[in-house]
Amino acid sequence: MSVSESSHLSAKKIIASFQTLPTIPAAAARAIQILNEPDPDLSEVADIVLADQVIAARVIRIINSPLYKLLHEIDSVKQALIYLGPQKIFEIILTSCFLELTDNSGNQCLRVQSCWEHSFGVALVSRNLAELSGAVKPELAFVSGILHDIGEVILSQQLPEQFRQAMQLSLEREVNLHDAEMEQFGTSHCEVGALLAEQWRFPEPFLQVILHHHSAQIEQKSPLIQIVSLADQICADVRLKCELNQPVRDNGTGIYGEHLQELEQQLGRLGVEDLAAFRQSLGTMVQKVKETVQSLYA
Ligand SMILES: [Fe+2]
Ligand SMILES: [Fe+2]
Repeated sequence: MSVSESSHLSAKKIIASFQTLPTIPAAAARAIQILNEPDPDLSEVADIVLADQVIAARVIRIINSPLYKLLHEIDSVKQALIYLGPQKIFEIILTSCFLELTDNSGNQCLRVQSCWEHSFGVALVSRNLAELSGAVKPELAFVSGILHDIGEVILSQQLPEQFRQAMQLSLEREVNLHDAEMEQFGTSHCEVGALLAEQWRFPEPFLQVILHHHSAQIEQKSPLIQIVSLADQICADVRLKCELNQPVRDNGTGIYGEHLQELEQQLGRLGVEDLAAFRQSLGTMVQKVKETVQSLYA
């Protein structure tokens, strides 16, 4: 059996061992289904979303967060959703699913805010790289960034002790979390996340990003996967990363990480030529991520 086959099997076994299977709200699932249709009825999507209190509350908070602050002149949330259009509604609904799945106050293993900062960071940097390179649709890059580590948060909720050990292992040996998880679980957050995303019927491009963002031969993957993988490393380097729930270290004040120059060299491969524009926007993105997570985290 190949490594990827055995990792797939282990991920299936792990998910089967979960006491309760994490699910997305039915309203969100229905809305995603309609948005995947060729000419979606946005008014129907808005009605479905707003009829579900949990998902509606999330959506309203996201719309009012620093990410979307265009809505002062618009009277109702329904109007706001229709005004934003299908791509943005899709983005907001999937973001609210992510928040719903990961906002588990019982999870003492990972600091939820740090995971949200990482996800929003990877989403914004991916969108920026998509815009600068013209290689993929910016909205697709944003949502992929939000969802890419969903498996990590779910694993940490479901198997907190083993996950903590994998995290410790990766810190002590200075190996990446994916490799430490392979040692601990025989699989990783990528496989687990992709299998769950399949059950939630998330569209195929997101599944591929979730599955392959730590792939060894990343340059052979699609531009979308490459962009998210690079954004993931850039965010870790500027200290937007998932952390164990333990006393927060002094993170320093610098925006530029140790490896940023090295990582920037890879931007050329993706068609990003204007490094100055990227550098200029990175500080603003980090700031926006912090403000957004602050406004979303109750
Ligand atoms: Fe990851
Ligand atoms: Fe990540």
